[in-house]
Amino acid sequence: MRKILIAGNWKMHKTQAESQEFLQAFIPEITNTNIDPDEERGIILCPTFTSLGLMSKTLHGSRVRLGAQNIHWEDSGAYTGEVSGAMLTELGVSYAIVGHSERRLYFGETDETVNLRLKAAQRHTLIPILCVGETKAQRDAGKVEAIIENQLQKALVDIDQSNLVIAYEPVWAIGTGDTCEAKEANRVIGFIRSQLTNADVSIQYGGSVKPSNVDEIMAQPEIDGALVGGASLEAASFARLVNYQL
Ligand code: PGA
Repeated sequence: MRKILIAGNWKMHKTQAESQEFLQAFIPEITNTNIDPDEERGIILCPTFTSLGLMSKTLHGSRVRLGAQNIHWEDSGAYTGEVSGAMLTELGVSYAIVGHSERRLYFGETDETVNLRLKAAQRHTLIPILCVGETKAQRDAGKVEAIIENQLQKALVDIDQSNLVIAYEPVWAIGTGDTCEAKEANRVIGFIRSQLTNADVSIQYGGSVKPSNVDEIMAQPEIDGALVGGASLEAASFARLVNYQL
């Protein structure tokens, strides 16, 4: 069964103290969030590496799961600035975002390194959240399906699709306030599903999800959740997203 997953990607925001402050305000807001096993809403927070340890302690016993924003493909070695799967699982991390467009754009991430990182996540029993999506120029050129098909084909070589989440994140909609129309996001996510061998993979939409559009996005039949940047930084706003109404 496809799981509903609402994830906050904090990017390079929040010190440990600010992360704790967020949790103090956020946790009371989710006590009534739908926990019906058939429709349970998974809640994930992906803070910076430096906040993971403390947040893991604070969240112990809660229903909020932690995700990392990246993971290196080797288990250890001379890779300055990188973090391995074992370092994440030791902190109680359950998910890892892989191939976010900001990593692809600013840090030289390629489809090949995305594949290696996905494999490392699965090897360490982390569930990877694979991000795919087209740029504005690619969309304008009518290449949405071709780009996504190519990203998926290369990323998913030898990947176990029973232990995978995908986020459709059109690059032009990230941090711009310019949301992809809910029906169009639904259509592209249907296309992504048609490329997979496992029909139960949860597929999120990401890109300017906010309290004013989350209900419409989550009402779409193909969309299983959201990966949220800006609107996850404030507790009341992220709580409203998690508590979306159908
Ligand atoms: P945004 O970011 O919600 O700020 O557009 C989404 C993301 O980068 O995952």
